[in-house]
Amino acid sequence: MPQSFDLFFVSSDYQKYKEAKKILHSFGIRLGFFKYELEEIQSSSLKEIASKKAAQAFQKYKKPIIIEDDGLFIDSLYGFPGPYSSYVFKTIGNKGILQLLTQNRKAKFVSIISFYDDKNSKSFEAKIYGNISKIQTGKGWGYDPIFMPKNSNKTFAELTNKNELSHRYKALKKFSNWYLHKLESNDQ
Ligand code: IMP
Repeated sequence: MPQSFDLFFVSSDYQKYKEAKKILHSFGIRLGFFKYELEEIQSSSLKEIASKKAAQAFQKYKKPIIIEDDGLFIDSLYGFPGPYSSYVFKTIGNKGILQLLTQNRKAKFVSIISFYDDKNSKSFEAKIYGNISKIQTGKGWGYDPIFMPKNSNKTFAELTNKNELSHRYKALKKFSNWYLHKLESNDQ
């Protein structure tokens, strides 16, 4: 039976949706999915990329939506690949990233969640600091097999509680606080 949702996640990436759905479910929010590849503008600002994508998605679906844009920023590479993380993953991949690094392996993962409906356009940013592992470990998607959160010797791919501490979790938590409060004030 088709389900009715109040909020939709628009992305071409099912993995991201799966995690976002699980996280938002823990805050009592049901999240639907529109699988669609949004156009990405060229910009060095993740926030600008995300808010343009959200506007585009709302134009298409005319429903309250969130979209997510992420970036992996590696210290010794001056923040590269950052806003180019998706392209870099598709080209050189985790293997290529590992070949670029030597001593300093510090990095951060940034998530921007952008919400858009007929009244609001709002973005929420969160980051998680960590290190790039020396080898790929665990079976995970994207950069999960090489990103180890701070104070952990396991990669995201090996952790069982990634969804309780990731960049995505933190950004969605900020979003949920705002969104649930908004729903509450609309009810009054
Ligand atoms: P996007 O541009 O927002 O799709 O994400 C940039 C890149 O980061 C893509 O290659 C994603 O697969 C990757 N990515 C985003 N979030 C995660 C994550 O939680 N784990 C692993 N890779 C991720």
